[in-house]
Amino acid sequence: MSLTLESSLMINEEINKAECLSDLNNIIASCNRCSLSKTKTKDVFGSGSEKAEIFFIGEAPGKEEDLRGEPFVGAAGKFLGEMLKENGLNRNNVFIANVLKHRPPENRDPLPEEVDACWPFLEKQIQIVNPKIIVFLGRHALNRFFPSLKISEVHGRAFRKSWQGKDQVFLALYHPAAALYNGSMRETLKSDFKKIPILITKIKKTLKPQQKKLI
Ligand code: URA
Repeated sequence: MSLTLESSLMINEEINKAECLSDLNNIIASCNRCSLSKTKTKDVFGSGSEKAEIFFIGEAPGKEEDLRGEPFVGAAGKFLGEMLKENGLNRNNVFIANVLKHRPPENRDPLPEEVDACWPFLEKQIQIVNPKIIVFLGRHALNRFFPSLKISEVHGRAFRKSWQGKDQVFLALYHPAAALYNGSMRETLKSDFKKIPILITKIKKTLKPQQKKLI
């Protein structure tokens, strides 16, 4: 067995054993499954409540996030924070993560092998938090879960799918960085975002598993 494969399997075993986010963060901090571990400044595990009902997934840390070790703390993060506030939410009662836990140099798109290497961490984060809704911020997050869906077609329309053995609700939104300086996309994102608290209420109250369309 090659060293890389062996260490990859060992990491997967450790991930399986993790019982809480801090266990998992320790494993992320020592992960060297892809080359981003060599260029990172800080690990960007994710932040928020371990019991969050809403789990946001962005693409990857940018420059600010890499320096501070926290997701969405740059310009896009400020916009995300404003939308959370406008909808009665804040960073402490949701969970915010990324597909990648380390910054790709020069903010280039994540490579498929980086996304694959980081995937078990995201899966485990979701399993630990056990959210009522998973909200994709942009196409990279959406397409890691549902490769055939187009963000321009499905944004703002919640759907249910069986995932990790559970009936899970998903919602895709445009990425705040893409919408930040684009007037019409910005308005669309803000209006799609308003559906989140409505969905949470619906999920808690009424929905039957066979009910596919939520909004
Ligand atoms: N963009 C992302 O996708 N994630 C971050 O953490 C910051 C910007």
